[in-house]
Amino acid sequence: MAHRIYFVIVAAGGGTRFGGDIPKQFRQLAGKPVLCHSIDAIKTFCGASEIDVRVILVLSPAGKDFWKSNGADSYPFVEIADGGVSRAESVANALAMVEAESDYAGSIIMVHDAARPMLSQELLGRLMRACSQGSQAVVPALAPTDSLMEKADICGAMPVDRSSFLAVQTPQAFHADTLISAYRNQKDNLARMTDEASVVFASTNSPIEYVDGDVRNIKITNPADLPLAEILLQQCSL
Ligand code: CTP
Ligand code: MG
Repeated sequence: MAHRIYFVIVAAGGGTRFGGDIPKQFRQLAGKPVLCHSIDAIKTFCGASEIDVRVILVLSPAGKDFWKSNGADSYPFVEIADGGVSRAESVANALAMVEAESDYAGSIIMVHDAARPMLSQELLGRLMRACSQGSQAVVPALAPTDSLMEKADICGAMPVDRSSFLAVQTPQAFHADTLISAYRNQKDNLARMTDEASVVFASTNSPIEYVDGDVRNIKITNPADLPLAEILLQQCSL
C-alpha cells in the first residue's frame, strides 16, 4: 500500500465549448461548485482509510480569485498550483510541487478533471486496488457505445471496428516515479498530450492498464451536460 496519495485536480481550463461568463468547473451543481464534488469524494474516500492524502488544485489567476471567495475557507487542506496553457502543462505545474517534496517516492498520484463531478467511491477503489497490486499506470475506461469512424484525409470518413477502442476517463492513477519521469521525458511534447496516460505511453511505450470506468462519470463539456449531471446526482448516490 502506498504511504500517500496526491490528488491533482485540474481546473485551469477556460471551458470554451461550455461557454458563458463562469467557467464550467465553478458553476453550481446540486448546491456547490462543480469542482467541490470531486474534492468531497476524495475526502470521503481517504477518510475511510489510513492513507495520507494531499489535494493539489490547479487554477488560473481568475480561478484563484473564485476559489478565495467560494472554497478556500471550507477546504483549507487544498494546495493550489498555477494553471498552464494546456492541460498537460497544468499537470506539470502540480507535479513540480510533488517533486519539491523529498519523500514523494512510493506515493500514488491520481489526476482528475475538475469537470467530472460524478466521482464514485467504487471507481476510486478500483484504481487504488490496481495500484496496490503493482500497476504503474491505470485509467478508467469504457467501451464506446456509438459507432466510430476515422476521418479520411480529404473528405468523408471510414467506419472502424469499435471493439478495438476504449473511451478513457479520469482519475488516472500512477506510481509517482513513473508519472514524474514520463513528464520529464516528454517535456517538449506536452502541448499535444490530452491525458496523462498519453504522456506515460509516449515515454515508456508500454500498454496502459485499465479498470472499468463509470457511465455516470461524465465530463461536463457542453451546456447540456450540467442538467444531466444534476439529474444523475438526484437519482443515485455516488
Ligand atoms: N484544464 C486545465 N488547464 C488547461 C486546460 C484544461 O487544468 N490549460 C482542465 C479543465 O479545467 C478541465 C480538464 O482539464 O477540468 C479537462 O479539460 P476540458 O474538459 O477540455 O476543459 P476546458 O479546456 O476548460 O474546456 P474547453 O476544451 O471546452 O475549452
Ligand atoms: Mg480543453
